[in-house]
Amino acid sequence: MAFLHANKVLFQNLLLLFFFSLVSYATDTIIQSQPLSDGTTLVSKNGTFELGFFTPGSSTNRYVGIWFKNIPTRNVVWVFNRNNPTKDKFSTLSLTKGGNLVLLNQNRSLIWSTNTTGSGSGSNHVVQLLDNGNLVIRDENDDSNNEESFLWQSFDHPCDTLLQGMKLGWNLKTGLNRFLTAWKNWDDPSSGDLTSGIKLGINPELVIMKGSVEYYRSGPWNGIFSSGVFGFSPNPLFYYKYVQNEDEVYVRYTLKNSSVVSIIVLNQTLYVRQRITWIPHTRTWSVYQSLPQDSCDVYNVCGAYGNCMINASPVCQCLEGFKPKSLQEWDQMDWTRGCVHREPWSCGVRNKDGFKRFDGMKMPDTTHSWINTSMTLEDCRVKCFENCSCTAYANLDTSGEGSGCSIWFGDLLDMRISDSGQDLYVRMATSDAIIYNDAKHKNSKKVVLMVAIIVSSAVLMLLTFCYIYMTKVKNEENGIWTEEKDDGGEENMELPFFDLVTIINATDNFSYKNKLGEGGFGPVYKGTMLDGQEIAVKRLSRSSGQGLKEFKNEVILCAKLQHRNLVKVLGCCIEGEEKMLLYEYMPNKSLDSFIFDSTRSKLLDWPMRFNILCAIARALLYLHQDSRLRIIHRDLKASNILLDNNMNPKISDFGLAKMCGGDQVEGNTNRIVGTYGYMAPEYAIDGLFSIKSDVFSFGVLLLEIVGGKKNRTITDEGHCDNLIGYAWRLWKEGIPEQLIAPSLMDSCNIFEAVRCIQVGLLCLQHHPDDRPNMTSVVVMLSSENVLSQPKVPSFLIKNISIEGGGQSSGSQKSCSINEVTVSLLNAR
Ligand SMILES: *[C@@H]1O[C@H](CO)[C@@H](O)[C@H](O)[C@H]1NC(C)=O
Ligand SMILES: *[C@@H]1O[C@H](CO)[C@@H](O)[C@H](O)[C@H]1NC(C)=O
Ligand SMILES: *[C@@H]1O[C@H](CO)[C@@H](O)[C@H](O)[C@H]1NC(C)=O
Ligand SMILES: *[C@@H]1O[C@H](CO)[C@@H](O)[C@H](O)[C@H]1NC(C)=O
Ligand SMILES: *[C@@H]1O[C@H](CO)[C@@H](O)[C@H](O)[C@H]1NC(C)=O
Ligand SMILES: *[C@@H]1O[C@H](CO)[C@@H](O)[C@H](O)[C@H]1NC(C)=O
Ligand SMILES: *[C@@H]1O[C@H](CO)[C@@H](O)[C@H](O)[C@H]1NC(C)=O
Repeated sequence: MAFLHANKVLFQNLLLLFFFSLVSYATDTIIQSQPLSDGTTLVSKNGTFELGFFTPGSSTNRYVGIWFKNIPTRNVVWVFNRNNPTKDKFSTLSLTKGGNLVLLNQNRSLIWSTNTTGSGSGSNHVVQLLDNGNLVIRDENDDSNNEESFLWQSFDHPCDTLLQGMKLGWNLKTGLNRFLTAWKNWDDPSSGDLTSGIKLGINPELVIMKGSVEYYRSGPWNGIFSSGVFGFSPNPLFYYKYVQNEDEVYVRYTLKNSSVVSIIVLNQTLYVRQRITWIPHTRTWSVYQSLPQDSCDVYNVCGAYGNCMINASPVCQCLEGFKPKSLQEWDQMDWTRGCVHREPWSCGVRNKDGFKRFDGMKMPDTTHSWINTSMTLEDCRVKCFENCSCTAYANLDTSGEGSGCSIWFGDLLDMRISDSGQDLYVRMATSDAIIYNDAKHKNSKKVVLMVAIIVSSAVLMLLTFCYIYMTKVKNEENGIWTEEKDDGGEENMELPFFDLVTIINATDNFSYKNKLGEGGFGPVYKGTMLDGQEIAVKRLSRSSGQGLKEFKNEVILCAKLQHRNLVKVLGCCIEGEEKMLLYEYMPNKSLDSFIFDSTRSKLLDWPMRFNILCAIARALLYLHQDSRLRIIHRDLKASNILLDNNMNPKISDFGLAKMCGGDQVEGNTNRIVGTYGYMAPEYAIDGLFSIKSDVFSFGVLLLEIVGGKKNRTITDEGHCDNLIGYAWRLWKEGIPEQLIAPSLMDSCNIFEAVRCIQVGLLCLQHHPDDRPNMTSVVVMLSSENVLSQPKVPSFLIKNISIEGGGQSSGSQKSCSINEVTVSLLNAR
C-alpha cells in the first residue's frame, strides 16, 4: 500500500517495480507478518518453481498454484484451492499464528485452509517453496528439510501431477493416502473422476480409477516393476522405488538426469495417466508413456481366465485348457463372462490335478491372494496344491533367480501377455497341464524316476493329442465340420432351405413395389412370410459359374458367421437357375440414406456415428480374422451398412464376393466387384485384392461418416478434390477438424473425430503394406495412444481409365487429369 504514493512519478514507479520484482524473485518464503497477495509470487531458491495466483485458460476464477517458472505451457503442477476458487483479485495467502496456511478474501473471510494444527503455540513457522516444488510449513529454525519435521507439505496432497520425489501411496500410521486426481479440464482444476494411486491389499498395486470403478491396474510390484507395464526395463530417464513396510506403502520415481524435466500427469479428457517430458528446443511436452497402453490394459476386458493378446484376433483368448463360458457370446466378442476349465479337475488328487506354466503374463488381480516372501517356488506349488480354492501360483519377486510365493484364490482376472510379464502356474486337470518339475535337480532317485514316468506319460499324451488333432484337421479339410462335443451341440445348426414358391408368395412374385434396391449381386426384395416375419431376399444374378455344392457349402459357412454387427442370414433358396439368400429385414435402411441426406443426417449425432464406425470396424475384423474362413468383403460401402431399430449398424453382403464374384475379378473385366470411390488402387487397377483393400474401403467410409459427404463429391474451393484429397489437404494444413460435417458440430467430440480422420487417412495410404489391419484399427479407435502420421493417400477417382466404366461428366474430366497425375506420382 505504501507503494501507491509513488504512482505519480513514473521514474520512481519503474524503479520500484524493478526493486519489487527483485524482492519477489529473491524470496521463497511467507512469514506471518507478510502475506502473499494476488500479483506477487514466491520463487524457489534455484528458480525452478514459482507459486502465486493464476487464472487457467478461459476461466475467470483465481487459484493459488505452483508452476514451472521456465516452462510456458501446461506448467501448473499443484493447486491449493482447486475446488474452492475465488473471483476476488484482492485475496491473500497468509500464515496464521497457529501455523495454518489460509486463503482469505478481501473481507478476510476464509476460502481455503490447510487445517494444520500448530505444534506448540510459541513456535515460529514459515511457509517455504522448496527447489523440488514442495510447499512446506516448517519451523523457522529447523531448515533440515527433513520430511518428518514439516508441519504440512503440499507433496502430501497431490493434484494431477506427480513430481520427482513425491510419494504416491499410503502412510499406514496416519491413514494418509496420497493419490492423483485429474483436473476436470485444462480450464478447470477442480477434481475430475479420474484418479490414480496405490490400492492396498495383500499385494498392493498401482491402479487408475474412473470414479469408483477400477479402470487399470499395473500388476503387483515384482522387484523390478510390475508385470503389466511395458517399457520399464532399464531406461535412461528415471527409476522407480517401491517401499512396503508396516509404516508405509508407496512408490516414487527419481530422474537420472536432474536437468531433464519429466513428470507424470493424469488427463481427464484422454482418460490416461501419462509421463510427459519437456523438450526445450521444440518447447513442447512429449509423451513418453501412457497408461492404459492399449485396449488390453483396460481392467478385465477378457473376463475370468481370459488372456488378452494385443496381436491376436480377437484380442481375447481363453488360457490354454480353458474354454469360453458361453461360446456364442464369446464369438460375438462379448467376453465379460470369461472362460471355464475345459475339463473338470478333482482337487488335490494326484494325476487329476496339475499346473500349467504360462510365460510372460501380467499377474492376475491380487484381491484374493496370499503371499510369503521367503518361500521357494516348489513350496509355493505345494501350498497351492493343498488348498482347493487355490487356482494359481507364481514367484513374488522376479529379480535375480526369482523368490517368494504368491498364490491366488478363485477366478483369475485381468491377465494379458506382457513384455514385462512373468511365469504364472495355473491349476487345471492333468490332461490339460503339461507337467513339469521345477525343483532344482535334487539328485534323488525318486525324482529321476518320477521325471521319467512323467516324461513318458507326457509323450504318450502328446502322441494321443497329435492323433486327435490330426484327425480333426483332416475332417475339417474334408469339409466335415466336427463341432467340439462339449460345446453343447447348439452350434450344429442347420441352415433352412426355402422353396421357391414360399419366396414368390412372400415377395408377391418379386413385385416392383417390394423391391428394396439393387446391390452388386442382384436386386433385393422385401418379403413377408406367412407367420408375419419380414425378410429381405437377395436374388443373385445368374452369371455365377460356381457349382451348386460349393455354393451351398459357402452359404452354410456364411450362416455360421454370427456377429451382432453382421446381417443375419436366415436361409437360402436354390432351385434351378435361381439362387436366393434370405436375410433379416432392417427397417431403417442403410447408412447412406442418413449421412448423405441433409435432413436425415441430423438424426445421427456424433456419439451414434462413432458407435457405428467402431461397430463396423469390429465386424470387419471378425470377417477378416475369423479362424474358420477369412472373408474379404470387397464391396464395403455406406449402402451396404444397414441400421437396425436402435441404429446399430450391420454389414450386409459379406461373403457374397466369395460366393459369386470369385472368378469375375480376373475373368470378367467389365465387372469388377466393388464400387468406384471405395476401391483401393491396387484392386481397381490390377484386380489385386486383399484384406488391405477392405481396409481402404473402410477408410473411405470413415471419412464419409465424419465428413457427411460422398467420396466422389467434388469439393470446390479452387481445388479439385474428392473427399480423400480434401481430407488430406486439410490434414497437411493442420486443420483436419474442418472436414467434420457441419451438422455434427454441436454433438462432436473434436478430439475423437480428428482421431477418426487420422485413422481414416492411415487406412487410405497408397501401399497396402502401409495400411493397418483391422485389429490395429479397432485398437486405434478404442484407445488414446499416439497414432503414426499417415503417408500420402491414393486420390483415385472414378474416371481413371480402368474398365472404361466411368460415366463422368465433362467438367469432372478436366479435374481428373490432375488427379491421375497425382496418383501416378504417388505410385512411384
Ligand atoms: C466476503 O465476501 C464474499 C464475496 O467476496 C461474500 O460471499 C461473503 O459473504 C463476505 N463475508 C463477509 C463476512 O462479509
Ligand atoms: C479444512 O476444514 C474445513 C472445515 O472443516 C473443511 O471444509 C476443509 O475441507 C478442510 N480443508 C482441508 C484441506 O482438509
Ligand atoms: C533446482 O532444484 C531441483 C531439485 O533439486 C533440480 O531438479 C533442478 O535441476 C534445479 N534447477 C536448477 C536451475 O538448478
Ligand atoms: C489432455 O490432453 C489433451 C490432448 O493432448 C489436451 O488438449 C488437454 O489440455 C490435456 N488436459 C490436461 C488437463 O492436461
Ligand atoms: C542431461 O540432460 C542435458 C539436457 O538434456 C544434457 O545436455 C546432458 O548431457 C545430460 N547429462 C547426462 C549426464 O546425460
Ligand atoms: C513363510 O514361509 C516360511 C518358510 O516356509 C515360514 O517359515 C514363514 O512362517 C512363512 N511366513 C508367513 C507369514 O506365513
Ligand atoms: C484355503 O485358502 C482360503 C483363503 O485363504 C482359506 O480361507 C481356507 O481356509 C483355506 N483352506 C484350507 C483347507 O487351508
